[in-house]
Formats: sequence, structure tokens, C-alpha cells
Amino acid sequence: MTESLVPDLGPRPEPPNAGGRTVYVETYGCQMNVYDSQVILGRMREAGFREIDDHLEADVVLVNTCSVREHAEHRVISRVGELRRSREHAGKDPALVGICGCMAERLRDELVRQRNRIDLVVGVDHYDELPRLVGELLDPDPAPSAVAVGHDRRVHYVAPPEAYPTNHSHLVTIHKGCDYRCTYCIVPSTRGPQVEKAPDLIEREIASIVASGGREVTLLGQNVTAYRWSDELDFAALLQRVARIEGLERVRFLTGHPCDMHPHLIDVIGAEEKVCPWLHVPAQSGSDRVLRRMKRHYRRDDYLAMVARAREVIEDVTFSGDFIVGFPGETDEDFAATLSLVEEVGYDTIFSFKYSERPGVPAARLADDVPLEAKKERLAALMAAQEAAWARLAEAQVGREVTAVVEEPARRAAGSWRLRTGNNRKILVPLDEPTVGRALRVRLTGWRNTSFFGEPVATA
Ligand code: SAH
Ligand code: SF4
Ligand code: F3S
Repeated sequence: MTESLVPDLGPRPEPPNAGGRTVYVETYGCQMNVYDSQVILGRMREAGFREIDDHLEADVVLVNTCSVREHAEHRVISRVGELRRSREHAGKDPALVGICGCMAERLRDELVRQRNRIDLVVGVDHYDELPRLVGELLDPDPAPSAVAVGHDRRVHYVAPPEAYPTNHSHLVTIHKGCDYRCTYCIVPSTRGPQVEKAPDLIEREIASIVASGGREVTLLGQNVTAYRWSDELDFAALLQRVARIEGLERVRFLTGHPCDMHPHLIDVIGAEEKVCPWLHVPAQSGSDRVLRRMKRHYRRDDYLAMVARAREVIEDVTFSGDFIVGFPGETDEDFAATLSLVEEVGYDTIFSFKYSERPGVPAARLADDVPLEAKKERLAALMAAQEAAWARLAEAQVGREVTAVVEEPARRAAGSWRLRTGNNRKILVPLDEPTVGRALRVRLTGWRNTSFFGEPVATA
């Protein structure tokens, strides 16, 4: 059985110096950080801080950060400088500035030594300590800075159920960390080893989301498909348990690792009505040589077989994924294999990135030998291949009838609403009196970029 303590959900002591102060949180990186920012805000609120969305007015500014690429880190450092300067220009007192998340874990007290002043560094397992640390720094006679980092297997968070969901899907982290060692990736070191949240706790969290009006959840983790609480309770079994929660209508999950997409799991996804037929399964590359050097534990053929099986078993399944171009040693031929994979699979969406060397990861021992220009060219070629493949997929959908849930008014089409299908396609539909959260039958009439256009179909 995986060790995991149920977090203390009871009231926490109020720290000194909190009452009436305001906090502003800015979030970078993946959905894990979006979830954690909800946890951070929840903890700060409980301790008497008030959330505001104007950093110029906030007493405390927290930046929840990402280390996955060098560019992501540079952006945060320059953002801190910008936050400091805009306060100065506005004639305001400096805020207390804290760095949370993956950069806090990676750079630790190096952060408090850099040029733009950072008062507080709080790693991913230390958000329960945030209110106390902030309270101490707000003391009239404070310490110069505070650093709380390092992994703690016992810590699991539960975000407040009323926290605003992403795309109307409430995020629910089901485990933290990652035990894979993809050679390019910093996440295992910033997030630590994989530790499961207890299934009972996951169920209780979802039940409380449903009780506060939520109808859809997205189970979240760097590798949700590797979830394993016990020999009997793997990710497939967890999905089945979650699908039985009364009042819950839809379950999504992010991210799946291709090597964990076993036939049994695919069967469960296909059989459980509440589980949405959308797989985010990053391939990273289409070349076996590169996949081996990335230590992804599958070959191109395995990946394609997984896609084929999913298409057979899961009705209307769609795929999305991530790709890295310019991994050390990637040749034109390797890259051509990535292009052909994208053409063959037919993704709805892909996220593609130029390889960015991260200090200390295994691939940092390989020469970062693909020139920047070649990385840029490959990125552009990959995006063009995806556009062409998607155009074929999207065009073939026009005329079909689908079921989709009303989410919110469309941003750029007055009178239209954005709906989302179970397989994660967006449809803009003109509606007179829509009910948010209701499922409608819609005929697809066209598409542009990543959205379809549609019209309601009268139902008998
Ligand atoms: N756990 C997920 C995603 C991890 S990070 C998975 O296993 O797929 C999100 C994406 O960032 C990755 O899928 C990868 O495409 C990209 N990424 C990670 N490290 C990178 C690096 N060093 N350079 C460029 N892209 C990277
Ligand atoms: Fe990184 Fe690989 Fe783990 Fe994903 S599976 S977080 S890419 S090490
Ligand atoms: Fe970035 Fe950390 Fe997520 S490195 S991608 S915020 S786990």
C-alpha cells in the first residue's frame, strides 16, 4: 500500500499580522500549479488575508512558478522586476514578494540572493506554512527573508471545492511528483517522487465538489495513468470508483503516459460512460532513436498501436499531446518521423516545444547540438503539419450531430455560447436562453482554428 497521510482539514491557527491584509497570486506552468494556487489562496484566506486581482494594491504578491524550460524561469525573474518597478512608479510601498512552486524547489535560497528582491521562497510541499511565514515577515521587525523547501511525502493538498474550475472542470490532484526519468525533464526533481493521494480522500474531495454544484472533474497528475494505491487499486480502478460518485456527470484526466495506457485501462475508459473520450498522451517524438534517448519506454509502433486500440474501443475518442523538437542528436530523419507521426495519429491539439536544457537532468550530459535556428524551423514545420492534419479531421466532422455542454458566452461572437463535447471539442452555438451546464444536441456547421460552429438540433 502506498503511504499517504490524510491531511488535517481542521481549522488552522491564525498567524499574527494577517487581519485585513491582501494577497495577489500569479500562476505559471501546468495545471498542477493552477490547482496549487487554489490551495495557496485557500490557506491565505483561512488565515485572514483577502484575495485581490490588482498587484499594485496587494500587501503580499505570490508568484507560483514553473521550471520546465529555461524561458519559463526567465519570464518569472523579469516579472518580479516588473512587479517591483511598477509599485515604485505608482509611489506604493514595496509588497512582500514570494516565489512558490517549481522554481522555489529548484533554485531555493539562490532566489533570495538575486537582484530583484524576493522575500520568501516556498516549495511545493510547504504551502501549509505560507500564512505563518508571511505573518512573520510582516512583523515590524522581520527576518530578511524566509525559505521553506524540500519534499515531504506526507503532504497532500485539497483545494477548496468552491475554487473556480478551469473550463468548468474542477481540478482534483490525485497524486504528486513523478517516478519516471525522462532524460530531458526537471519535474521529478522539482516535484519529488510520485506519492498517491488516498482514494478515500479523492472521493471525498469530489463529493464535496459535487455538493457545491460541480458536475465535472479533471483528475490531475504528471502521470495519472501510473496511479497505483495497491495492486487492486490502479488508475483504471480509480476511474471506476470516481465514475460511481453520485451527481458527478463527467470525468477527464491529465496527463496520461503512453506506456501506461494498457488495454485494460483503454477498455475501462471505453466502458465508463462518465469518463470522457479524450486522451492527452504526449508522444514527445516520432523517432525510436530519440524516444530511446529520452527514456520514454515505448516505441513509435507501441504508440500507434495504443492509438489504434483506443479508436477501436472508445467511441469518438480524440487525442492531444506534447512534442519536443531539437532534442540532443535529433537528425532531420528523426524529425521527419515526428512529422509523419503527427500526420498518422490525427491529434486535435498538440503543444510543441523547443528542447531546453535543464541543469542536472540526465540529458544535460548530452550536447545540446541542434542549432537554435534548426529548432525554430522544426517547430514551425511541426505546427504546420498539425494544422494540415487538424484541417482534415475538422472538415470531416462538419454535418455531424454531437452532444455538448453549455459552458460560457463566446468571447468573440455576440449571442453565441461556447459548448464543449465530451471529447473536448469546442463549439460556438447561437443560443437564446442557455442553461450553463446543460447538455444539448448540436449539428456542426463549420470550423475555424480550434473551434467548431454549430446549431442546436431540435430534440423530440
Ligand atoms: N508529465 C507530462 C508532462 C510534463 S511537462 C508527460 O509526461 O508528458 C509538459 C511538457 O513539457 C512535456 O510533455 C514536454 O513536452 C515539455 N518539456 C518537458 N521538459 C522539457 C524540456 N527540457 N525542454 C522542452 N520541453 C520540455
Ligand atoms: Fe517529466 Fe517524464 Fe515525468 Fe512527464 S513522465 S513529468 S515528462 S519525467
Ligand atoms: Fe512546470 Fe512544475 Fe508543472 S516544472 S510543468 S509547474 S510540475
